[in-house]
Amino acid sequence: MTTLITGGTGLIGACLAEKLLALGEQVALFDLAPAEWRLGPLRQAAGERLRVIRGDVTSLVELLDAARDTGAGAVVHLAYVLGAESNASPELAGRVNILGTTNVLEAARLTGARRVLLASSIAVYGSDSDYPPDALPLREDAPRHVAQGVSLYGAGKVYLEHVGALYAQRYGLVVGGLRPSIVYGWGRQHGASVFAGALVDRAAVGEPVRVGFGDARVSLVYVDDVAEQFLALLKADAAVFARRRFFNTGGDTCTVRELAATVRRLLPEAVIEVTAAGERDVAGLAASVSDRSLEEEVGVRRKFTPLEIGVQAHLTTARARAGRAPIESTSPG
Ligand SMILES: NC(=O)c1ccc[n+]([C@@H]2O[C@H](COP(=O)([O-])OP(=O)(O)OC[C@H]3O[C@@H](n4cnc5c(N)ncnc54)[C@H](O)[C@@H]3O)[C@@H](O)[C@H]2O)c1
Repeated sequence: MTTLITGGTGLIGACLAEKLLALGEQVALFDLAPAEWRLGPLRQAAGERLRVIRGDVTSLVELLDAARDTGAGAVVHLAYVLGAESNASPELAGRVNILGTTNVLEAARLTGARRVLLASSIAVYGSDSDYPPDALPLREDAPRHVAQGVSLYGAGKVYLEHVGALYAQRYGLVVGGLRPSIVYGWGRQHGASVFAGALVDRAAVGEPVRVGFGDARVSLVYVDDVAEQFLALLKADAAVFARRRFFNTGGDTCTVRELAATVRRLLPEAVIEVTAAGERDVAGLAASVSDRSLEEEVGVRRKFTPLEIGVQAHLTTARARAGRAPIESTSPG
């Protein structure tokens, strides 16, 4: 079976593709701007089981062609205008995030793809301060406030969850997805929280780093865990989604200062300057988010936790990509 991944050459898509290919499956990556620099090792290992299709989710025709040509049985929809860029370009955000998501569901319906997984976000919640202390860490049924700093991004994710549910109810598609916390991993280039990935990427190869938001609390999840969670949802019994469609990925809660300290502990020569500039909750995003539902209802548990384990994996990947030796430490538990 082929899994079609929109936005598939991005941070999460490429990692998910790697996992599916390792299982011997076929993968088609549909992307407006395929990131070849991320695909090199994947292409070598996968041969013809990996297809890369340049296309735009705002075009239903291009999506239909891709789904038909590849015989996709499942679609994972990741293409989206991220974070602050959505607020800066409401027209683009409307086309890609709203129309694009509807197009993906429509293409799946018309071509008979059985399952569609959507990337929602913790941006559907407000910041921790919008909730009473006993509501933390946030579970999926917490009332939505939408993160204020990325309001169009978050509002688009609320729409995405609603239109997904509608296609499931009206057309019988199996629709579900994740609400990822801030995802960190090698080569992250977009989004309001891009600094989290850049901090580790640059420190890993000896470049000095300066970041703000020092006192801001964030919920961080390693890209490999998110890809594993999507994989688990691709394989899960359809009945799982009758109980709940969208699951928090969860994450490790820390301040940006603590993230920098973790990098320094693992790589003492790292030069990182952290300033207090910026708000205390990055873009109004929640920092305390529970993944208990995913563990209890889908049976998948994050491996790259506590933070040090994920940061170590991130540093190792960033160094390997730059031809540098791995850092010394422990493996994920
Ligand atoms: N990275 C995070 O911290 C995070 C957190 C929560 C949710 N998410 C969600 O996960 C998804 C993937 O995030 P990511 O970090 O992998 O992003 P990314 O920016 O690394 O990848 C997104 C990909 O989508 C492609 N794309 C953009 N517009 C497109 C269009 N019109 N048609 C086809 N492709 C298009 C881009 O070229 C890019 O390769 C997004 O929906 C995002 O909102 C990410």
